[in-house]
Amino acid sequence: MDILEVKGLNKIYPGNVPYRALNDIDLTVAKGEFVGIMGPSGSGKTTLLNVVSTIDRPTSGQVLLNGADPFRLLSEGLARFRRRELGFVFQSFNLLDTMTVMENIVLPLTLDRTKVADMLGRAERIAEKLGIAGILNKRTYEISGGQAQRTAIARALIHQPQLLLADEPTGNLDSKSARDVMGLMSALNKDESATMLLVTHDAMAASYCDRVIFIKDGRTYTEIHCGDNRKAFYQKILNVLSLLGGDGHEFPAIRV
Ligand SMILES: Nc1ncnc2c1ncn2[C@@H]1O[C@H](COP(=O)(O)OP(=O)(O)OP(=O)(O)O)[C@@H](O)[C@H]1O
Ligand SMILES: [Mg+2]
Repeated sequence: MDILEVKGLNKIYPGNVPYRALNDIDLTVAKGEFVGIMGPSGSGKTTLLNVVSTIDRPTSGQVLLNGADPFRLLSEGLARFRRRELGFVFQSFNLLDTMTVMENIVLPLTLDRTKVADMLGRAERIAEKLGIAGILNKRTYEISGGQAQRTAIARALIHQPQLLLADEPTGNLDSKSARDVMGLMSALNKDESATMLLVTHDAMAASYCDRVIFIKDGRTYTEIHCGDNRKAFYQKILNVLSLLGGDGHEFPAIRV
C-alpha cells in the first residue's frame, strides 16, 4: 500500500519573475519504506517536502497521503491532519529550550489530550530505543547535538505518524553523531515500520535508505535501490552525485 502518492506535481513560486521549482514530479512511497531525496542545492528538495507536508500548496498536480488529498481539508482539519498523520525532523532540531527532553518528546501528545500515564510510557519506550532514556530530565541546552536530534526524532515519532519527513536531519551533526542518528532512524524504520522520507546532501546518510530519488532542476533525474549491500549503495550514490554535476560546494557534507 502506498502511504504517499505524488502525481504530476508542479510548484511555481509567484513573483515578478515566477520560478518553477518543481516540474511534473511523480513519486510513491510504500508503507514501511525509507526513501531518500537528493539533488543539488536549489533543485527543489525542500519545496517538495513542504508540499508533501502540506505546509505549502502545489500549483498543480496531486498529493495523496494514505489515499486522501489533504489539501481538501479546511485549514483546521489540515492542521489536525498534519499533527496526527505526519512527523517532522529538521536540521535545526527545533526543540523548546525552556522544556526538558521528556516535555519536548510528549508535546505532540499533549496537544491531543492523551492520558499522562500513556504519554510517559510511550516516551520512555521510544527514548530507550533512541538511547536517550538517561537524559529525559535534562533541559535541551544541557544536551549534545546528537542527543538533541534523537530527542527531535522521538518527538516526531511518538504519535506514530503515517509518515516521517526529515529535511537534512544530520546537517548540524558531526559524522559520528550523524551515523548514530541514521542507524537509529533505520532501526526505527525496520522495527516500527515507520515510513520515512529523508532529504539529505550527505551520501553517508542517504546510504541508510532503501531507495534514493535524485532530483535536478525540479525534475526527477533517476532513482536507485539499496539491495543488500550498503557499502556498494553508498558508492552508487556518489556516482550519481558526480553525474548530477555541481562544483562540490553543492555537496559539502559528503562523509566517508
Ligand atoms: N518562497 C520562495 N519563493 C521563491 N522562490 C523560492 C522560494 N523557496 C524556494 N525558492 C526557489 O526554488 C528553488 C528550489 O528551492 P528549494 O529550497 O526547494 O531547494 P533545495 O533543493 O531544498 O536546496 P538546498 O539543498 O540548498 O536546501 C530555488 O531556486 C529557490 O531559490
Ligand atoms: Mg533545502
